[in-house]
Amino acid sequence: MIEFKDVCVSYASGWQALHNLNLTVEKGEFAFIVGPTGAGKSTLLKLIYRDEKPTQGTIRVSDQNLNEMRLRDIPFLRRKIGVVYQDFGLLPNKTVYENVAFALQVIGAARSTIRKQVPHVLELVAMGHRPDSFPNQLSGGEQQRVAIARALVNDPPILLADEPTGNLDPETSMGIIQLLNHIHVRGTTVLVATHDHAIVDMMQRRVLAFERGKLVRDELVGAYRSAEFEEPRP
Ligand SMILES: Nc1ncnc2c1ncn2[C@@H]1O[C@H](COP(=O)(O)OP(=O)(O)OP(=O)(O)O)[C@@H](O)[C@H]1O
Ligand SMILES: [Mg+2]
Repeated sequence: MIEFKDVCVSYASGWQALHNLNLTVEKGEFAFIVGPTGAGKSTLLKLIYRDEKPTQGTIRVSDQNLNEMRLRDIPFLRRKIGVVYQDFGLLPNKTVYENVAFALQVIGAARSTIRKQVPHVLELVAMGHRPDSFPNQLSGGEQQRVAIARALVNDPPILLADEPTGNLDPETSMGIIQLLNHIHVRGTTVLVATHDHAIVDMMQRRVLAFERGKLVRDELVGAYRSAEFEEPRP
């Protein structure tokens, strides 16, 4: 479903944000991307939705080689991928309903589809009771649930989340991750970049750990730290 082959990304500064990455994520997987700041996590996610291009190597998403993709094909790639960010990114002057509906309007969906899909996806994220609220009337966790609904309204096979709990308290964060897990269980491939130790350790999922642009650990049932890492004794 998502495949990286010998992928390198160098920015104009000369800095290698990703170094010789080989990685496959199968359809329907759930994986965490962890690593210190600057390790290359966001760069990895951006490559998948073609917000960045690799300097070297091949990336395939749903059997499509992104290197061979024409500019006019990019919107079609992005319809297959929902993206969620740390800062939610909702439009402040639109209601919950309008924010989610907007994602369908921009791709030219029929009004009947919008009327059916928006309430459905708001129910999925447990925000069906607040369609008329504006973002500033919602808590951070509620805003993130709406942002997830917006990412999912088009029913994409892939959901990418870049530090989706970065602005949330621990309990709310856990709720958001449970929601992402629920979405994964329904069949979506989910990739989550995070600094949240507690969540990664609790979920017992695949962990891809990066350090300075290199994939240094890939475990099917992983923790935030590698097993060899010795916690300092109290
Ligand atoms: N547009 C850019 N131009 C130049 N360098 C960049 C650009 N974007 C990212 N970088 C550099 O590439 C490296 C990887 O950045 P990236 O954003 O992928 O890290 P990250 O793991 O997501 O970090 P964080 O945990 O802080 O979000 C960093 O050293 C960063 O400074
Ligand atoms: Mg980042």
